[in-house]
Amino acid sequence: MPRVALVTGGTRGIGAAIAGTLKEAGHQVVVTYQGNEDAAAAFTRSTGMPAQRWDVGDFAACQDGVSSIEQQYGSVDILVNNAGITRDGMLHKMSSEDWDSVIRTNLTSAFNMTHAVINGMRERGFGRLIQISSVNGVKGQMGQANYAAAKAGLIGFTKSVAQENARKGITANVIAPGYTDTEMVAAVPEAVLEKIIAQIPVGRLGQAREIGKAVAYLASEEAGFVTGATLHLNGGQYMT
Ligand code: CAA
Repeated sequence: MPRVALVTGGTRGIGAAIAGTLKEAGHQVVVTYQGNEDAAAAFTRSTGMPAQRWDVGDFAACQDGVSSIEQQYGSVDILVNNAGITRDGMLHKMSSEDWDSVIRTNLTSAFNMTHAVINGMRERGFGRLIQISSVNGVKGQMGQANYAAAKAGLIGFTKSVAQENARKGITANVIAPGYTDTEMVAAVPEAVLEKIIAQIPVGRLGQAREIGKAVAYLASEEAGFVTGATLHLNGGQYMT
């Protein structure tokens, strides 16, 4: 059944691939983006999917943004909290700004966005909430105390929301991607990235589309018995 799906940070990388697989599944997909106008315009031009700009770390902006999308396209039944940034650095060198911005964009955003859709989902008796965490939120990663804390936080958040809403037809799940072939991973110093790939049993980076396909499954009607789960798509880098 076609539904309205909202993907945060959906114009590039894993988010764009998720938007693509949800569209292929027949959904009306709307994405958000933070600042890269050129990437957003290119995304909409090539896919036909609308992109709306707001800061998902801003509670009021999320309420307004979701309300405007619901007026234009209908109630949001599928929410993918994908937006994320990195500000890598060893903890002893990390500024409080780099801590705050990552927690705000990668974790507080999930609260803000979910808060904006949850009452409607509860009233309608259907919802699919999917958080994009990371292998590094599960295993930790040097240089990522901020990012790993936020990505781990998404798992506790999801399990709580899953319990609160299970009787309302709403599922909440996490996908924890490993190192995936995106601009974010391309920014890792080359020598470090070589070491990381050497730690991945399948011997390669993940493809964004592989993550998108898993999201499309969790968003489907058939996935109604899957809730509070974390799906690890990391090429075997960390088995849990
Ligand atoms: N795996 C293995 N070794 C790593 C590593 C990693 N992920 N990150 C750093 N190292 C190693 C370096 O190769 C280096 O080793 P040597 O001393 O043997 O040369 C050592 O740790 C120290 O690293 P640097 O010399 O680079 O030290 P620095 O203080 O200049 O920078 C750092 C430290 C910020 C951690 C930097 O190395 C870095 O950016 N590393 C990558 C961190 C990372 O993996 N980020 C993930 C980004 S992608 C993402 O976040 C998506 C996702 O969800 C997976």
